[in-house]
Amino acid sequence: MSQDALSLLRALNWLSPEQPGLSPALLNWLLEEDSMTRRFEQHCQQVTVQPVREGFINADELTDEKALLPDDERFWLREIILFGDDEPWLAGRTLVPESTLNGPEIMLQQLGTRPLGRYLFSSSTLSRDFIEPGKIHDLWGRRSRLRLSDKPLLLTELFLPACPLYRDLV
Ligand code: PHB
Repeated sequence: MSQDALSLLRALNWLSPEQPGLSPALLNWLLEEDSMTRRFEQHCQQVTVQPVREGFINADELTDEKALLPDDERFWLREIILFGDDEPWLAGRTLVPESTLNGPEIMLQQLGTRPLGRYLFSSSTLSRDFIEPGKIHDLWGRRSRLRLSDKPLLLTELFLPACPLYRDLV
């Protein structure tokens, strides 16, 4: 299941936020600026994160992601499934250039079951370059390039069918 979700995530097709047909309710989710984990917590008792893959990959394993990140030999990859009350709500893929992993950002390698957002959104040095909506079949996603102390990382998220986002669209 988690591998299927993460394969779909890698196949997302990217759209402009100005693309016609994206409803306000949908954009309200996709362009959420604050922590998605915190938003999910308003819809369930407990959010949990299951790491699927964490480790270094080489530059040649990047997809079109390569164009959005600085040239680096190795990238820290984190792939997770986030659950709301034990239902899979989101697949997440974070790519961190090795050159980002110094100072406090070393923590990005040590998250395990801790949700990334708890770390990102507690940092005073967080900024965002862009958020881009994406779609694959009937599922929505998004990707954002974020910066911690000006050092980039790329976060891609796929909202799975059980996610409360889809309840707001009917
Ligand atoms: C993660 O822990 O990697 C994570 C958590 C929530 C998200 C995305 C990624 O929305």
